[in-house]
Amino acid sequence: MKKKWISALGCSLAMICFTALALASEEACITCHRDISPGQVADWESGKHSKEDVTCSVCHGDRHTGAKDAHLAQLPDEHVCADCHEEAFDQFAKGKHNFGWTSMNALPITHVEPDELMEGGRGCGGCHNMGIKSEAQKKEQRDKGYRYQNNSCDECHTRHSFSKKEALDPKACQQCHMGYDHPQWEMWSSSKHGTRYFVKEKGKLPENAAAPTCQFCHMPDGNHTNKTAWGFLGVRLPLPEDKQWAADRVTILKALGVLNPETGEPTARLEVIKAVDLARLTKEAWHTERENMIGRCKQCHSEAYAREQLAMGDSIIQKTDHLLAEAIETVAALYQDGIIKKPENYAFAYPDFLYFMQTGGSYIDQVLFQMYMKHRMRTYQAFFHVNPDYAYWYGWAMMVKDLAEIKELAKAMRATVKME
Ligand code: HEC
Ligand code: HEC
Ligand code: HEC
Ligand code: HEC
Ligand code: HEC
Ligand code: HEC
Ligand code: HEC
Ligand code: HEC
Repeated sequence: MKKKWISALGCSLAMICFTALALASEEACITCHRDISPGQVADWESGKHSKEDVTCSVCHGDRHTGAKDAHLAQLPDEHVCADCHEEAFDQFAKGKHNFGWTSMNALPITHVEPDELMEGGRGCGGCHNMGIKSEAQKKEQRDKGYRYQNNSCDECHTRHSFSKKEALDPKACQQCHMGYDHPQWEMWSSSKHGTRYFVKEKGKLPENAAAPTCQFCHMPDGNHTNKTAWGFLGVRLPLPEDKQWAADRVTILKALGVLNPETGEPTARLEVIKAVDLARLTKEAWHTERENMIGRCKQCHSEAYAREQLAMGDSIIQKTDHLLAEAIETVAALYQDGIIKKPENYAFAYPDFLYFMQTGGSYIDQVLFQMYMKHRMRTYQAFFHVNPDYAYWYGWAMMVKDLAEIKELAKAMRATVKME
């Protein structure tokens, strides 16, 4: 707590000054907005800020006073919260959530899809608006006509109640950690861990019954710095010692555009990946996160059990990599033989995962992308979130099916070219 809060406290010592200040500027916002947007005022009143005189103008400034000058209201970014919540801000700034906006914008796909799906708060931008934006990033958004999404903190402590209890509920994570390529909500909520949580929530298990939430494992002791060992892409450096695994990884890194498919040398994209912390780059960085996680499991399980469980997750990644590499090579051979033409925006005649479904119009590329993004993710994420069905039917089994489809399609494509 610093600056503004301290000065507000100082002021409140002189009760007269405080009352005058509150009546003069704050009553106006609240009175008028009680008519204009009553739900917002009620929500603010339900939270701690209203009890602590953190009023509308503390966050929005006092330049806007009526209907005609609404554009003068300040839209508070995280720095405004930091004035009073420095620790949470500093922790957040070091975590992965702070890279959401930057990593989204670092992908080529972001710049070929409609703006509504980026700046508009639905699609990619609906989940990736987390992260402190630079003034240049904010200006770019405003220039396109998008005024909101300046604050990351209200993604878990939804405005205007800004509640800690809400943020502690796993539902606070659901909007983003669900669906196609990261169904952590679905996996956790139908696992034993989630079952326990829901039964306990209904009061059928005692208060001290063991039931880990997302927050328990990923925000230990309320720490806002979030990061895991494998992360989203499920790749890391240096390459594994196992020869076959290392070869499979090289193939995947080529399809991610991080290694040049012709020379095997790192491309400029590796720098992008480093800049947004997309993968752990050293053994130590990976181990630190893994050990932190074991520390969480140990609260309820034996250490040996926890290590064995997570090691199984690692070895299933190795096996998914082998299936995926075979599929990539099948499609890459079609590029090599000129059966698929290099799309104009691609750097190489090779599959490029970072164009997502915009694969230059080739269906086999889309099946390959789905194998990587949907089914490989599900297979290993389900191991870490202890979900039997996602691991097999929605994950591994689908990868096997994808590979068969890719081979069949490749055969048909080659036959068609021969006929023509
Ligand atoms: C006389 C009525 C009135 C008063 C007083 C008033 N507002 Fe507003 N406010 C409005 C109206 C009307 C809008 C526009 C609503 C709309 O676009 O539908 C608005 C919009 C806003 C917005 C949204 C701005 C945006 O960019 O969309 C914020 C934030 C806001 N007011 C905060 C405040 C604060 C803080 C105060 C006190 C300092 C305040 N208001 C005082 C009527 C008022
Ligand atoms: C603790 C800081 C804080 C306080 C206090 C606060 N707001 Fe906000 N408000 C925000 C944030 C954060 C946003 C979202 C900004 C963005 O998306 O860029 C916002 C957005 C808004 C908006 C525009 C979006 C919408 O949903 O219409 C209005 C209007 C608004 N606030 C009104 C109010 C009013 C009225 C009060 C007082 C009752 C108030 N705010 C108090 C932080 C605050
Ligand atoms: C002027 C100071 C000030 C500003 C600015 C401010 N807060 Fe607070 N906030 C407080 C105080 C005081 C409390 C109550 C502290 C307590 O009870 O421990 C609080 C409590 C909270 C809590 C805990 C609520 C609970 O249910 O226990 C959250 C979360 C929070 N603020 C988030 C925010 C966010 C997000 C912003 C920016 C949009 C913000 N605050 C801006 C002073 C501020
Ligand atoms: C439903 C919310 C949601 C949507 C929509 C979404 N993402 Fe994500 N994205 C996430 C989440 C959550 C993660 C982290 C998942 C994990 O680690 O398992 C993530 C991870 C990523 C990553 C990897 C970040 C890293 O460093 O690990 C990139 C890059 C990315 N998304 C880009 C995009 C792009 C581009 C789009 C749109 C084409 C998009 N996302 C759509 C929620 C979303
Ligand atoms: C029992 C502990 C635990 C719970 C509960 C838990 N996770 Fe995880 N989570 C893990 C482990 C373990 C990993 C993998 C860590 C590693 O890479 O070593 C992980 C990884 C992740 C990742 C990175 C990608 C991935 O899936 O491997 C995200 C994002 C994530 N969890 C989000 C969530 C969300 C959201 C919830 C709640 C719906 C949740 N987790 C519940 C333990 C947990
Ligand atoms: C990913 C979700 C998430 C985001 C984003 C987030 N928080 Fe939190 N925050 C939480 C959770 C969960 C807790 C409760 C931690 C606990 O007590 O175990 C919390 C607690 C808090 C508290 C109360 C601390 C206390 O000791 O009572 C404050 C204040 C707070 N957050 C401010 C912020 C600010 C400021 C930001 C933005 C920089 C932010 N939070 C972003 C999830 C989040
Ligand atoms: C508004 C959307 C949103 C919400 C809400 C959200 N997250 Fe995230 N989360 C993301 C995105 C986007 C990323 C990937 C950020 C990036 O680009 O690096 C992410 C990344 C993560 C990671 C890091 C995975 C890795 O790569 O190591 C963890 C862990 C995580 N989130 C846990 C949580 C938990 C726990 C909650 C709820 C308390 C939560 N998130 C709420 C969007 C969200
Ligand atoms: C807050 C307590 C708690 C934490 C922390 C926790 N678990 Fe659990 N876990 C349970 C409970 C309770 C069960 C159900 C009873 C049992 O199987 O022991 C369970 C069950 C499991 C199961 C077996 C599921 C089944 O269907 O039999 C696995 C595997 C597991 N946990 C792995 C982990 C891993 C790995 C971690 C750390 C990433 C972890 N757990 C963290 C409480 C916890």
